[in-house]
Amino acid sequence: MNSALMIRGGRPLRGSISIQGAKNSVLPILAAAIMGEGEQVVRRCPWLSDVESTFHILRYLGCRVRREGNAVVVDPGPMDRCDIPDRLMREMRSSVVFLGAILARSGEACMSFPGGCELGPRPIDLHLSALRALGAEILETGGNLICRGRHMVGQEINLTFPSVGATENIMLAACGASGVTRVTNAAREPEIEDLQRFLRAMGAHVDGAGTSTVVIEGGHALHAAEHTILPDRIAAATYLAAAAAAGGTITVEDICPEHLSTVTSILAEAGCEIRAGHTHITLHREAPLHAMRPVRTMPYPGFPTDAQSPLMAVAARAEGATVFVENIFENRFRHVGELARMGADIKVAGRVAVVCGVSRLYGAHVCATDLRGGAALLVAALGAEGESRLTGLRHLDRGYEAPERRLAALGADVRRVEEEAGANGPAQRAAGRLCD
Ligand code: UD1
Repeated sequence: MNSALMIRGGRPLRGSISIQGAKNSVLPILAAAIMGEGEQVVRRCPWLSDVESTFHILRYLGCRVRREGNAVVVDPGPMDRCDIPDRLMREMRSSVVFLGAILARSGEACMSFPGGCELGPRPIDLHLSALRALGAEILETGGNLICRGRHMVGQEINLTFPSVGATENIMLAACGASGVTRVTNAAREPEIEDLQRFLRAMGAHVDGAGTSTVVIEGGHALHAAEHTILPDRIAAATYLAAAAAAGGTITVEDICPEHLSTVTSILAEAGCEIRAGHTHITLHREAPLHAMRPVRTMPYPGFPTDAQSPLMAVAARAEGATVFVENIFENRFRHVGELARMGADIKVAGRVAVVCGVSRLYGAHVCATDLRGGAALLVAALGAEGESRLTGLRHLDRGYEAPERRLAALGADVRRVEEEAGANGPAQRAAGRLCD
């Protein structure tokens, strides 16, 4: 059985929505949890399949993991392994962040090479060269990484690109190295600051996260800690985009509005009224949407690549042409072909997409081919005429906690249905294959 979302578009959204904990924050924080003694309590842990995949890894390593409502308790005490099997690495490419954490805790680590993914090649050269600079020996053989780092020593590390995952991996490994590591050109994403907050709560000496220089003084024993995960700025951006597409007035609550300023300024340009408070943003959209200035994805504080596709679904119905330039990932326009099934007019040339807004989108059967591309299709369907069927939900469920329930609470006509695999004819089966 496969799941699908049935979405009848054109109903304005109204009401308030509380935003889940950030997926991109909780994954490295759960990896970091193995580095301390005693139980680590992580609050506002979202219910996502990527989080479940992380639990699988933690349990495989020997940790005890239990859910207590929205909190997760990780006890790394019984951890007795330092390898991650290929089948678990394949569940989630970003599990490479365990490399630094396992090395810091155990002095050795073994895992399969993450390889490419739906967003294109996913190299980890920056992770590996930084860990080597700290003194880890890394053997790349037969698709596996075999790493030894019992005597890592802090170093100056300059990243040639501010990679989020590499910055996190270095922060984790450096906690287990002796002396001071200084990372320059570090990623500045809010999720890096959240990792620093958790590491500090465990007793680590880390400073500078959120700026481009992060300094870690390693070698301190880490202890039990409690931490509440940062709100998910990309989930918030997606629900704001949904209200922009469908019209209406919604408030996203329990968020950090400053983390969303590039997204809200683009939505304001499209004709949405935006009001931001300390921990919420209200969006009102009644008048027709209009084209926006070019959207160029950049490392934080630039426009987030993860919000590019949901915003493209808004631009698809705006009057005029909007240009999107994707500067982070090679293959992040895969939703374009699916948006075209709904009547969108989008031309792609390399890293540039030109979206010529149309006055109407129509409901269609569309298939998510990656997480944020799936979000784009959901947003588009909410603003389309007629009914859409969205499949490929395994992508969407990686990053959005019960989106159908949350959207239905805002007045959207969205429901999840179970359907027979392959029961929908050749076109749908072909789309389904894309998702597997
Ligand atoms: C993280 C986020 C992802 C977001 C991305 C960019 C998580 C779990 N995922 O992914 O949602 O879209 O940041 O904000 O937090 N690169 C290299 N070599 C490396 C590492 C990266 O060439 O060693 C390249 C990547 O291929 C990509 C770019 O750098 O083109 C950005 O990658 P990175 O910042 O590392 O993203 P992730 O940490 O994978």
